Amino acid sequence: MTDLDDLRTRLIGAVEGAEDLDALEALRVGALGKKGELTERMKALGKAAPEERKALGQGLNAIKDEIAGLIEARTAALGDAALEARLRGETVDVTLPVRPESQGRIHPISQTIDEIVAIFGEMGFTVAEGPDIEDDFHNFTALNIPPEHPARQMHDTFYVEERDAAGERLVLRTHTSPVQIRAMEGAEPPFRLIVPGRTYRSDSDMTHTPMFHQVEGLVIGEAIHMGHLKGCLTDFCRAYFEVPDVPVRFRPSHFPFTEPSAEMDIGCSRKGGGLRIGAGDDWLEILGCGMVHPKVLANCGVDAERWQGFAFGMGIERIAMLKYGIPDLRTFFEADIRWLRHYGFAPLETPSLIGGLSA
Ligand code: DAH
Repeated sequence: MTDLDDLRTRLIGAVEGAEDLDALEALRVGALGKKGELTERMKALGKAAPEERKALGQGLNAIKDEIAGLIEARTAALGDAALEARLRGETVDVTLPVRPESQGRIHPISQTIDEIVAIFGEMGFTVAEGPDIEDDFHNFTALNIPPEHPARQMHDTFYVEERDAAGERLVLRTHTSPVQIRAMEGAEPPFRLIVPGRTYRSDSDMTHTPMFHQVEGLVIGEAIHMGHLKGCLTDFCRAYFEVPDVPVRFRPSHFPFTEPSAEMDIGCSRKGGGLRIGAGDDWLEILGCGMVHPKVLANCGVDAERWQGFAFGMGIERIAMLKYGIPDLRTFFEADIRWLRHYGFAPLETPSLIGGLSA
């Protein structure tokens, strides 16, 4: 029987030494499978001497049961260990941030433009663009500012060397209003558009920089009146400053391209040194606006008998400074990374009226 003892010892050793489920399965097939070692030995029982057959058969059966039991136990143990290792490897620390915090910041000018576009977008406005280098006609003449008009002096225009077809020198646009002309020239009314963009004036001090930003607005339709202007701009200010009851007032003013013209103020309070936008005893000028002058419509080939509407223009730096408490205009353009870290905005938070403008 020593050879059965050897067989048993060898198989037990092999089971114990199997390192994974594949090795164990190979072992099971090799011992207990159809052509396995033990199976073959059982098949060969008939050839054994009759007096040895019974003991040999019992011995083989005992080894078969024992090995089958050991394989089963070891399979379960290896399975548990494998599961354990997998779970350990897949552990997630839910307290870790999903991504490293982003380093970049959105400049307050970009943020403010995004907020303006979100608000007017909600009111059905589209965004229009025009060139920074303009011709005299679009920047002035078509807007009812003929040569020698005193408004031209007020614009501190930057002139460039090149001249247009009429021999006039090109200019860096002094306002976004020329895009009104470009939008109307090429298309049929109605119009409802805003134009955020860069503008240039030869002026530099505490409250002026040679390049700054404006947003222009234009609404042209068949029955547009001053009430639409007031409602639209009041809604805009309340949404933008996130002060639902901010008082507004319209003061008569003058622009060559609108008739009548107005300036819009919002209420504020300066009590205690700080500026607070909302009901108070003071006013802040926010923008210029008015009903588009019939001559401007005619200059663009729009039938002023049939179409009318309103326009407005405002300074983007100014409304950004008021909303975000930025005291000095010039810091917008100094590219100081500490300033941007302080006043900038998180890059993945797109402003929207539903998700929040500046949350
Ligand atoms: N273009 C004017 C400026 O730069 C601002 C402005 C005022 C635009 C009234 C308008 C408007 O469209 O209606 O000072």
